[in-house]
Amino acid sequence: RKSVFILAIETSCDDTSVAIVENGTVIRSNVVSSQIETHQRFGGVVPEVASRKHVESITWMLEEAVQESGVSLQELSAIAVTQGPGLVGSLLVGVVAGKALACALELPLIGVHHIAGHIYANQLVHKLEYPLMALVVSGGHTELIFMDEPGKFKIIGRTRDDAAGEAYDKVARAMHLPYPGGPYIDQLAQEADHEIVMPRAWLDPISYDFSFSGLKSAVLNVVNRSQMRGEELQTAHIAKGFQESVIDVLVTKASRAVREFGAKQLLLAGGVAANKGLRSRLSERCLELNVPLLLPPLNLCMDNAAMIAAAAFLKWEQQEFSELDLKAEPQLKL
Ligand code: KG4
Ligand code: ZN
Repeated sequence: RKSVFILAIETSCDDTSVAIVENGTVIRSNVVSSQIETHQRFGGVVPEVASRKHVESITWMLEEAVQESGVSLQELSAIAVTQGPGLVGSLLVGVVAGKALACALELPLIGVHHIAGHIYANQLVHKLEYPLMALVVSGGHTELIFMDEPGKFKIIGRTRDDAAGEAYDKVARAMHLPYPGGPYIDQLAQEADHEIVMPRAWLDPISYDFSFSGLKSAVLNVVNRSQMRGEELQTAHIAKGFQESVIDVLVTKASRAVREFGAKQLLLAGGVAANKGLRSRLSERCLELNVPLLLPPLNLCMDNAAMIAAAAFLKWEQQEFSELDLKAEPQLKL
């Protein structure tokens, strides 16, 4: 059978990425251009700057992704693009580029949900078995998603305030660590020999929802108090206390969900899936539960277009195509 080559574009936030994936599993190219350095001096992503940067990079990145893949434009089967959720100005750049390509090459267009992409990043390296439970933790999302078949998503729990990654970034910023703060807090927490114990937001006992704003405030209080007293900031001890609280709640709720829903696998996805502490604690818990844990490789945790191509392949198999009037949807529902 002839190979299916999907060219995918991801521009939902501050990473421009173009990838070509063969048969939904083999990455032929996955070019990512991070804007972190641009946004770092602002301490977070500036939407207008992000969309302008996407415009500057998208054309040469398309060329580079095609060249690196060794796949010719004539061999492509479909064009996929992140439709949402995300920053509208950023999404627009990818959507317009995707539509233009689909139109010019007379190929089907496939709009993809960003979170479906994060989940299906795992398909690039693992065999998914249903029903499965997905824990999605990124800068914009914290969700427990039950899937009893491919492409069917049932959100059983979500954050009521900040996303996990967002809390990491805000706490890091308060401690004057660079943006995005997740990796720095993770590193500090690994090195710390002691933790300043922080609260855990369990919410009501049966809920699978999350809340991280109380934890964030607790950390900010410790930081402010220490500054007011002119003490040296116990950055590593705070980082460990914060990270332990996040991991404790995520691991406890995810494992309870796995048991209650009879999931065959637990799948981790999103930028925070790169967290060393979370990966190791979830691994331990899944060993106890005797349920396989699917972890995306580190380079596929953060935003990238290969994951969008992987999710698009499912839609390609179902011949589920988008119209050429596809709109960027900043609040797109899963
Ligand atoms: O999925 P992603 O690249 O973008 C969104 O769709 O949001 O996730 C980015 C988030 C940031 O908040 C970043 O701080 C966090 O992932 N992150 C981490 C780690 N690496 C990235 N958080 C905790 N520990 C890490 N090692
Ligand atoms: Zn993401």
